[in-house]
Amino acid sequence: MASRWTRRRFLQGAGTATGAALLSGAAAEFLAACGGTSPPATTSGAGSGNLEIFSWWTGPGEKDGLAAMVQIFQKQFPKVNYQNSAVSGGAGSNAKAVLATRMQANNPPDSFQVHAGQELIGQWVKAGKMTSVTSIWNDLGLDKVMPKGLKNIVSSNGEVWSIPVDIHRGNVVWYVSKAMGSQSPPTTFNDFVMLLDKFKAGGMQYPLALGTLGNWQQTMWFENGILANGGADYYNKLFSGKGSFTDSKVTETLNEMKTLLTYSNPNTSSMDWSDAAGLMVNGSAAVTIMGDWAKGYFTALTPAWTPNQEFGQFLYPGTKGSYVIICDTFGVPKGAKDAANAAAWVKVSGSKEGQAAFNPKKGSIPARTDVSKSGFDPISQAFMDEFPKDTIIPSVAHGSAAPPNFVTAIENTLGVFITDKDVNKAATQMESASKEFLAS
Ligand code: GAL
Repeated sequence: MASRWTRRRFLQGAGTATGAALLSGAAAEFLAACGGTSPPATTSGAGSGNLEIFSWWTGPGEKDGLAAMVQIFQKQFPKVNYQNSAVSGGAGSNAKAVLATRMQANNPPDSFQVHAGQELIGQWVKAGKMTSVTSIWNDLGLDKVMPKGLKNIVSSNGEVWSIPVDIHRGNVVWYVSKAMGSQSPPTTFNDFVMLLDKFKAGGMQYPLALGTLGNWQQTMWFENGILANGGADYYNKLFSGKGSFTDSKVTETLNEMKTLLTYSNPNTSSMDWSDAAGLMVNGSAAVTIMGDWAKGYFTALTPAWTPNQEFGQFLYPGTKGSYVIICDTFGVPKGAKDAANAAAWVKVSGSKEGQAAFNPKKGSIPARTDVSKSGFDPISQAFMDEFPKDTIIPSVAHGSAAPPNFVTAIENTLGVFITDKDVNKAATQMESASKEFLAS
């Protein structure tokens, strides 16, 4: 029987896997060891000067979630001058490069959005670029209210390096209720294709909305397909270098993607995820495969779409019982100009009040388990029930499961794949990337 990806195993796979990120092993380990000795983040002295927050939350829903949390910060620290340095581009497709340049130049923002797992630990912590936030974690009493597995994937060397603010779910398909009618949600890939055929027969030429700007959306398709076809153990092995990308389950997944592409809008390469969601709003598409920030988008529309009324969701067929997680966190980089304000910001983002304000607008569920469900829509409420029971799967596309250089390599491969649709070529390229960047 496939063993579940328990939160403890999530630590092993996501937080501390040995895949090199920006630095080679020995140098990274050395810097990480140094990292532990730098002064920890402290809120002492917060309340004047500036606070620069860096993220890629510029779309409807996500920017509103951020604004709601900023409002709480500003109530506590009215004299601080807040600067929003968000760089647009879903999944950080532009922001991550901007951040890397700034970090390299020792000119970090005061605090930045970063995914738990490899993106944080394998990249910034190993490079010695972060300040410990263990004392903020302890002040907030997060051991009592945050799953241990989450703590694990923001920790290394006995220190906590950032505070999770949300849990997004990646294995979701969103649909327009009017188009879906009374049809049952598909539970297998074949059912999904039959549903797409029905939309097509009803006159919708491109029922499956897709934007491939940055190549991360088809990477979500890919990871969902691998999970559906191989299960949790297979997924974990494959993305930690212990499987083979030339295996038949990988080629099966790529062939399924080829099939899905025949239902997708053309000219995807200039479209972000919110543009794809927009195709559903204007009636030209019926479904999109996307994380639950898409729910944040729909509920931020004017007039707003109500979950389970104008739109609904089903899990990516074959992935029921699994929760593909994307976990956003905030930390304090070394050299932050307004470090005390940054520490205060991180504290707000880890607080009950902060998470209660942020997550309903963002579309995610809180990382804390003590936030009342009453402020959430029925889809999030159901997800809040499922999260503690489901098998937790760290997302590759969103930086938790694998190091950034591997993620970039498969994004590049899948970027070409959506045009040339060459299954064997894509599988072979991903296998080389696995050999080069994933631990075996
Ligand atoms: C993810 C991020 C989410 C959301 C999404 C779309 O990487 O974790 O919070 O912003 O990208 O941009």
